[in-house]
Amino acid sequence: MLRPDYPIRTARLVLRPFRPSDLDDVFAYRSLPDVTRYLHDEPYTRAQAAENLAKWIGQREITEEGQWLATAVTLDGRVIGEVDVTWRSEEHRQGEIGYIFNPAFQGKGYAREAAEVMLEIGFEGLGLHRIVAECEVRNEPSWRLMERLGMRREAHFRHHEFFKGEWADCFVYAMLAEEHRNH
Ligand SMILES: CC(C)(COP(=O)(O)OP(=O)(O)OC[C@H]1O[C@@H](n2cnc3c(N)ncnc32)[C@H](O)[C@@H]1OP(=O)(O)O)[C@@H](O)C(=O)NCCC(=O)NCCS
Repeated sequence: MLRPDYPIRTARLVLRPFRPSDLDDVFAYRSLPDVTRYLHDEPYTRAQAAENLAKWIGQREITEEGQWLATAVTLDGRVIGEVDVTWRSEEHRQGEIGYIFNPAFQGKGYAREAAEVMLEIGFEGLGLHRIVAECEVRNEPSWRLMERLGMRREAHFRHHEFFKGEWADCFVYAMLAEEHRNH
């Protein structure tokens, strides 16, 4: 069981659950093809953004494996991106993190600052032993962030998915709890 004590403040950001009033901010970046290029999602219409936002609003606690925390990353009250942590396996204490940011707020270290909170929640809050992150190999900003977070590249899967009309390769990165403590 994990129910983070929101809001979570970092040096520059405030992380909190999503709210209905976040729709404009979420639609602003989730509607951009550049943002969804390596995501399974396509650019959202406003209606799709509203539909997904409604689901994320409830995802503020984790009570069983398979669930994930949908977390809004805000700067001066505006949602600039999202981070998440998923409880993959209770028995094996495994989890996964993810992140998506508005391009206007990329290249400033904000994604790293917020993703570090997800690792902390995963290892300390959920008691995970290992956390993974995956991305398309061409998504260099994503795997470079994984490396900045101190995650190790564990796998390069060739053609693991027929993704948006072509075969795609995938990197798997991971971090163990003891590596997190020593990072
Ligand atoms: C993946 C993604 C979140 C990475 O975002 P990002 O802003 O590049 O990542 P960071 O927050 O670590 O920022 C790092 C950059 O900020 C720069 N930076 C500037 N000020 C900084 C500061 N105070 N602290 C740290 N870094 C800073 C770094 O130098 C680095 O720039 P560089 O890439 O030119 O070397 C972003 O590209 C994204 O949202 N992509 C679209 C969605 C997506 O594909 N998500 C991943 C799916 S697997």
